[in-house]
Amino acid sequence: MSLDFVKPAERISAFKPYFFSILGKKIKDLQSHGLDVIRLDMGSPDLPPADFIIEAMVQSARSADSHGYTAYGGIPLFREAVAKYYLNRFNVKLDPVNEVLGLIGSKEGLFDLPVVLANMGDVILIPDPGYPVYQSGAELVGAEIHYVPLVAENNFLPDLKAIPPKIAYRAKIMWINYPNNPTGAVAPIEFFEEVVEFGRKHEIVIAHDAPYTEICYDGYVAPSILQVPDSKDVVVEFNSLSKAYNMGGWRLGMVCGNPKVLKLLQTYKSQMDNSHFAPIQIAGATALTGDQNWLINRNEIYKERRDIILETLRNLGFQVNTPPSTIYLWARIPSRFEDCIEFCDRLLRETGVSMTPGTVFGEYGKGYVRISLGIATDRVRVAMERLTDWMKKQ
Ligand SMILES: Cc1ncc(COP(=O)(O)O)c(C=O)c1O
Repeated sequence: MSLDFVKPAERISAFKPYFFSILGKKIKDLQSHGLDVIRLDMGSPDLPPADFIIEAMVQSARSADSHGYTAYGGIPLFREAVAKYYLNRFNVKLDPVNEVLGLIGSKEGLFDLPVVLANMGDVILIPDPGYPVYQSGAELVGAEIHYVPLVAENNFLPDLKAIPPKIAYRAKIMWINYPNNPTGAVAPIEFFEEVVEFGRKHEIVIAHDAPYTEICYDGYVAPSILQVPDSKDVVVEFNSLSKAYNMGGWRLGMVCGNPKVLKLLQTYKSQMDNSHFAPIQIAGATALTGDQNWLINRNEIYKERRDIILETLRNLGFQVNTPPSTIYLWARIPSRFEDCIEFCDRLLRETGVSMTPGTVFGEYGKGYVRISLGIATDRVRVAMERLTDWMKKQ
């Protein structure tokens, strides 16, 4: 039957399929032709959560009363666990009823925020490079995007003074993300103080996306922007169990901070979803409030991978900072390669090593590749051997 009459609604007509879904198809095709692919592209943790977290989920799933619909915005136990985690980890006090909202993965909340705060033509400030969902959420509501460059010379922090006041006064949301994907950069608390002040002055909601705070190296401890006194006046902080506790597929996230914004999100979400299966939330609460010591060993595993890759990249002439956090290396490819998309495409087809071209994250990603640490250490070593052999032939 012909479906010629089916046309995309204008609000989604600019959307392209998500980069990693296209890449996934390409990789499947290459694998079906016998290529052994090592995926250093996607930021999906390869290790499982601790046993006690899985056990909490299994036990709860066996209970006859665990299978009904759950409270909008998360069961009280989960919201209270988030508040406890913020108090223990950041010394930030949150009211679990009004200042914590459960999300079905933080990606969902990031996409929802512009819907509840921005009208067509309002400005949204988005970091470039940045996580692609900030852009698609803005596109959905027809907002005007003003990109804020993140460059090495400024430690991949936005230069707030370079944002024209005319633009700032029209902005409804400013996205920031530290520890940062894709650059691996971190922000000092003084930067958070500055950005809170900027939000207050220009009446902009500061949306801090912070899913990497628990993956830190060499003694670094990532702060929360909510540690800035009175920041809840203008801030919401998104967080997630995906990277922090190796629970990416569980789709469990949260947003904390300004109660007015959270209420709008909750009202919107209550039209759309019914919150998570209770055993998943119970396991999430267990992860957030249980023993955190297993994360030390998990981070050591990532650090070993980080250091193997750093050494190889530097020997091969890539320019790369040592990231104190996240599961990413943001590497400038040697200048004899002209284009990062072509570089990644050839590397994948000719060696099976898959990296993400920097331009997936924006214009300022030109000349960079992002390399993820979410793959077994022995496979990381093989990938680096293949990269070294290949680069020598270029
Ligand atoms: C910066 C950033 N924000 C948000 C997310 C989404 O995480 P999730 O939806 O799994 O909570 C990711 C995932 O890669 C990310 O890198």
